[in-house]
Amino acid sequence: MSKLKNDYSRITTRTLAEFKAKGEKIAMLTAYDFTMAGIIDKAGIDVILVGDSASNVMAGHETTLPITLDQMIYHATSVVRGVERALVVVDLPFGTYQADSKEALRSAIRIMKESGAHAVKLEGGSQIQESIQRILKAGIPVMGHLGLTPQSIYKFGTYSVRAKEEAEAQQLLNDAMMLEKAGCFAIVLEKIPAKLAEKVTQTLDIPIIGIGAGGEVDGQVLVVNDMLGMNKEFSPRFLRRYLDLNSDISKAVKAYTEDVKNQDFPKPEEQY
Ligand code: KIV
Repeated sequence: MSKLKNDYSRITTRTLAEFKAKGEKIAMLTAYDFTMAGIIDKAGIDVILVGDSASNVMAGHETTLPITLDQMIYHATSVVRGVERALVVVDLPFGTYQADSKEALRSAIRIMKESGAHAVKLEGGSQIQESIQRILKAGIPVMGHLGLTPQSIYKFGTYSVRAKEEAEAQQLLNDAMMLEKAGCFAIVLEKIPAKLAEKVTQTLDIPIIGIGAGGEVDGQVLVVNDMLGMNKEFSPRFLRRYLDLNSDISKAVKAYTEDVKNQDFPKPEEQY
């Protein structure tokens, strides 16, 4: 018997709406490859985001800007192969939806068709409204992303908390309402004051998923490599580490190296 609170065999955008309606929180993590996606899917995660954070954690870039559409499709295809239950959402990478809405739709179609994912995520509000509307009109579910939007890092100049001032907070609320009206099925709010996230969550009917946005939202998302403790350098306040994989992997590799050098590995029973 599963210990999970629900036994939904396949999570859809509709399931997430049901979760919000009955007050059940949504658990979302990123994944970028088949193996990790399979593990977290079997463990009961509701939503898997193939985030453009792959640019940082998989490829070692300083920002999310360099990752390409082809690379995102590669990651998304690998993730989809490992997933049976979770809803798989894929980030449209920087430069594939901002220039014009037709290009945005073409990018979203490529992701859906080539990877088999279930939805796309775009960063931004009113400035990309036309792109969002065009993608939604084609029947592709869209998740919004407001607050700290890492694809605009060179505009902000910093990864610090967004929308602390009244004007930016009001703009964020307006953008969130616009996204809901346009037909987005959920919105990620990144690194904004908890009070503002709570207000957005109470104002909107669609699920609000936070990262560094406090507890009064409908769900939480973290980058899987961060919550597993693979990266010692990245320690924002909102990050809870559930493992210290960096140390564990390091210990394992040291032990293996020692065993090979000492000719302790392989033993007779480990040979043919
Ligand atoms: O790319 C990503 O991992 C994200 C999450 C931080 C929400 O957008």
